[in-house]
Amino acid sequence: MSRKKIVAGNWKMNTDYNEAMALITNVFNASKTLINVEKIIFPPFPFLQSACEITKNETSFFIGAQNCSEHLSGAYTGEVSANMINSIGCSYVLIGHSERRLFFKETDDQLILKIKHALNHNLRIVYCVGEQLDERKNASHFDVVRAQLENVLNNFNELDLEKIHIAYEPVWAIGTGETATPDQAQEMHAYIRGVINKNFSAEAAEKINILYGGSCNSKNAKELFSCNDIDGGLIGGASLKADEFCKIMLSF
Ligand code: 13P
Repeated sequence: MSRKKIVAGNWKMNTDYNEAMALITNVFNASKTLINVEKIIFPPFPFLQSACEITKNETSFFIGAQNCSEHLSGAYTGEVSANMINSIGCSYVLIGHSERRLFFKETDDQLILKIKHALNHNLRIVYCVGEQLDERKNASHFDVVRAQLENVLNNFNELDLEKIHIAYEPVWAIGTGETATPDQAQEMHAYIRGVINKNFSAEAAEKINILYGGSCNSKNAKELFSCNDIDGGLIGGASLKADEFCKIMLSF
């Protein structure tokens, strides 16, 4: 089965308004003819609506939020709901990024609620998993990733799963310049597919898109994307430069 190819850019807390508009415009224009690759950009919240306006009506280019609240609405000062994100034209939300798990102490229970609200508001999800350096060193990385998958995704059914992509982002590779080797990444991606097979079905495992993230750039993307179980990338630093991100989109 041939799965969709996806390249996603997570801008994190970078760019101001003018930089964000220039970047999205350049990436969007450069990718117009590349219809066989799904592009997803996760800009900071204040720039989502303008980004949606630039990319609307495009069937292979989507905008997503980097987070959403675990609450539906109400007195939660500073929070942004799934409904708000959907109502301005976003298609995606990123859930469970390691920076949210580590710096903002997001728990599995919160992630489950966030995914529930996102699905109920017609958003697709990129759900992030990945081990820390000490967990890889003590060889618990498979168990850590399995728990991140099962504790959260087992609260959803196979139809829900069709709206969820998984991103494997080993924390030791994020922003460090140290990429997982294609063998290390492929091994974990195949393992993740096995976990989905065991908890859902062989068909679900075959269908689900699994992206690699962690110091992915235009130099290593081709080798990573050529692995059987790697369906694309979730790009941090290299998504902030239009030419670099465009080269990654062309790496399949
Ligand atoms: P880098 O590509 O900067 O390592 O970041 C990866 C990431 O965290 C994407 O979500």
